[in-house]
Amino acid sequence: MQKTNEGPVIILAIESSCDETSCSISRDGVILSNVIAGQAVHEQYGGVVPELASRAHMQNIVPVVDAAMKKSGCTMDELSAIAFTQSPGLIGSLLVGSQFAKSLAMSLKIPLIAVHHMQAHVLANLIPGAAAPAAGSGTAAGSAVAADAAPLPSFPFLCLTVSGGHTQIVVCHSPLKLEVIGETLDDAAGEAFDKSAKLLGLPYPGGPLIDKYAKEGNAGRFSFPEPQIPGLNFSFSGLKTAILYFLQEQKAKDPEFVHKNLADICASIQGRIISILLNKLKKAARETGIKDLCIAGGVSANSGLRTSFRETGESLGWRTFIPAFQYCTDNAAMIAITAHFKYLAGDLSPLTVSASARAEW
Ligand code: KG4
Ligand code: ZN
Repeated sequence: MQKTNEGPVIILAIESSCDETSCSISRDGVILSNVIAGQAVHEQYGGVVPELASRAHMQNIVPVVDAAMKKSGCTMDELSAIAFTQSPGLIGSLLVGSQFAKSLAMSLKIPLIAVHHMQAHVLANLIPGAAAPAAGSGTAAGSAVAADAAPLPSFPFLCLTVSGGHTQIVVCHSPLKLEVIGETLDDAAGEAFDKSAKLLGLPYPGGPLIDKYAKEGNAGRFSFPEPQIPGLNFSFSGLKTAILYFLQEQKAKDPEFVHKNLADICASIQGRIISILLNKLKKAARETGIKDLCIAGGVSANSGLRTSFRETGESLGWRTFIPAFQYCTDNAAMIAITAHFKYLAGDLSPLTVSASARAEW
């Protein structure tokens, strides 16, 4: 099944773990195209409806793959391998991507590569041209890196991965050797954003809306508790309860409270989520001595987190890296870059490999 000719390594990658259907083509680790189709159908339900997500993936997958191929300028017979998100995610959604990928690999007689979604979020920081160098000049480690040089993090680096389903601190020893050293005991950071937004009456997904309103607000106006969780683990369920009780109490006094104070409430909630995340990341950096730090996952698109992460890095002498905006939320480019490293290492998958909703590292 392995391609025998010496040409470039060209990967077609598919991501379909939740409610985005995406296809990306990479050549020698450089992203040529990254097409993403969202699914508006879930908005009216206030969250992702798994069965509707699978159906939308089935409708979207052929046009998305077609568009990604056209944009890349590559032809099917040039492809070296087909990659797909194997786990974790919604099983029906994963099955659409995995069956499509297997069929394509079988018909083209090229290797199949199964990719772990959370590993891919971390490795989005290794997409050439995607990593943002430390914002400020004068950091002890990074100091004034030219933006066009776009350096990549050195191994081992630390990554705070914050998505809708996961919150993890990972040591990335090499592209294929990752070690989770901290994770959430309950809700993920993205859930904390989305559930808080729901309490405020905002539509799903609420994370980007909290980000938007927070820009106009005062983060010091309302105070929410920071949970005292030992080690490098996180917990967000107490914060959600504190916000619920706070809003109930305020609305009993003034039914218009949320409407009148939306920006300050959003800024205060966002500020607390960010401080919970960055305090643990600081602890992880202190304990490991690692100075190259990354963030990844949907919540790394949050403008407040991006700014605070860079400022924290400047004050502590870290080199900070953030994937380009389009590689933060779910996308197939991160699957392609991960598959590229797996291809080079000969880490291929049999056609019998199955998708899995939950998967161990
Ligand atoms: O990584 P992702 O696209 O999907 C999962 O793997 O879960 O992350 C989705 C999460 C959602 O909870 C969404 O609200 C959150 O990322 N998110 C944000 C922002 N953009 C996406 N949260 C806060 N601020 C944002 N700008
Ligand atoms: Zn994700």
